[in-house]
Amino acid sequence: MLKGYHILTVTHRNTPLSLIGSFLFNDVTEDELPLKLEALKAVFGLEELLYVATCNRVIFLLHSSRDIDASFPQQFFNFVNPDLDKDLINKHVIHYQGDEAVQHLFKVAASIDSLVVGEREILRQLREAYQRCLDWKLTGDKIRLLMDQAIVAAKDVYSNTRLGEKSVSVVSLAIRKMMDNHLPKSARILMVGAGQTNVLVSKFLVKYGFSNVTVFNRTIEKARNIAKKFSNGKALDIAELEHFTGGFDCLIVCTGATKAIVDRALYARLLNGESGSKIAIDLSVPHNIDASITSAFDVKLIEVEGLKKLAKQNLHFREQEVEQAMELLSAHLQEFKSLFRTREIELAFRQIPQEVKAVREKAMNEVFRKELEHLDENSRSLVERMLTYMEKKCTGIPMRVAREALVVKSS
Ligand SMILES: NC(=O)c1ccc[n+]([C@@H]2O[C@H](COP(=O)([O-])OP(=O)(O)OC[C@H]3O[C@@H](n4cnc5c(N)ncnc54)[C@H](OP(=O)(O)O)[C@@H]3O)[C@@H](O)[C@H]2O)c1
Repeated sequence: MLKGYHILTVTHRNTPLSLIGSFLFNDVTEDELPLKLEALKAVFGLEELLYVATCNRVIFLLHSSRDIDASFPQQFFNFVNPDLDKDLINKHVIHYQGDEAVQHLFKVAASIDSLVVGEREILRQLREAYQRCLDWKLTGDKIRLLMDQAIVAAKDVYSNTRLGEKSVSVVSLAIRKMMDNHLPKSARILMVGAGQTNVLVSKFLVKYGFSNVTVFNRTIEKARNIAKKFSNGKALDIAELEHFTGGFDCLIVCTGATKAIVDRALYARLLNGESGSKIAIDLSVPHNIDASITSAFDVKLIEVEGLKKLAKQNLHFREQEVEQAMELLSAHLQEFKSLFRTREIELAFRQIPQEVKAVREKAMNEVFRKELEHLDENSRSLVERMLTYMEKKCTGIPMRVAREALVVKSS
């Protein structure tokens, strides 16, 4: 019944984060993305498509009523990134279909499949990705139905297990690692990027009492919104980064750029002649700080891949909760099947009102036309009212009977 649902995904579970970027669209700007996705949908004859890219996974959720064979992931990712090696696709892409695809989406939404199990950021990312694809008219009724249920299932898990307790996230783990280095509260912090992730970072910096924070971003307004949280906060255009001479103790970079923003040369300039040990945090995927700085300078680099060990300890703490969450998700899968069946019937029965109306018109204008012509005004009006009554009542009967049959079958 659910076999039209497919997920093609590459995740942190079996792929290094540094490789995940290769499974995204190659050299495609934000403005070009909707057109690329539209082309993908057309080329592969997909009915619906949802595209989600986060720091630890890429998901293509598809609905297609035609059969999808084993060669499909190859062709699909060749289109996404023609430079991708065939063996890399074979090795890293996972294809889920039907119940498994639905179950996988539920697990992702409930943060069971996350790098940091229990972090709720993923639900926001899924919702935003869905809204974008809906606005771009890539999704339809099937994905809407599934997303609605995935959100219900995730909320059930967050409220009825202890998975969401002691809220953790990639950001909180990174900050924990940063704090292990005993950075003084007066430390000079440079922050590059002012998106959702760095907003979260800034909340932790405020919480731990840091005050000297300079924020660089393309959109200066967003940099200002972060900078004003700190008594010694400054906002600068990202273009100013290469001319900055204030030095730093900790450099935090997190943007949506798909190439390194801070290379060795820029890092050296930012040091401004200082030689002490520094901390650099790169939460971007793909990386925004060239990792080779670690071999050239005295710097402790904290990046998402390196947080995996801490994330594993977090998973160990939550293992029992994961079991309970999986039981809840199985129940939601059954519920989704029933919703899906009902929706299929509703769609199939959409024609009924028009068809009943057509029968009525034919009866009045063709089959009984002559007899009706001989009736007086009152009698004609009575016949019309009776037919209107019948039309309304008959339209609802098939749907009600089918619904009742479904309830009996599933109880
Ligand atoms: N959300 C999470 O939980 C999470 C966790 C870990 C890592 N990450 C990673 O963090 C990165 C940012 O995610 P986000 O959720 O913060 O994104 P976001 O809210 O969309 O913000 C993106 C930020 O990057 C900037 N930006 C985008 N493209 C750029 C470019 N080519 N050059 C310079 N700046 C650019 C944007 O500047 P404007 O404001 O001018 O547009 C904005 O400041 C991604 O690599 C993501 O995978 C996210």
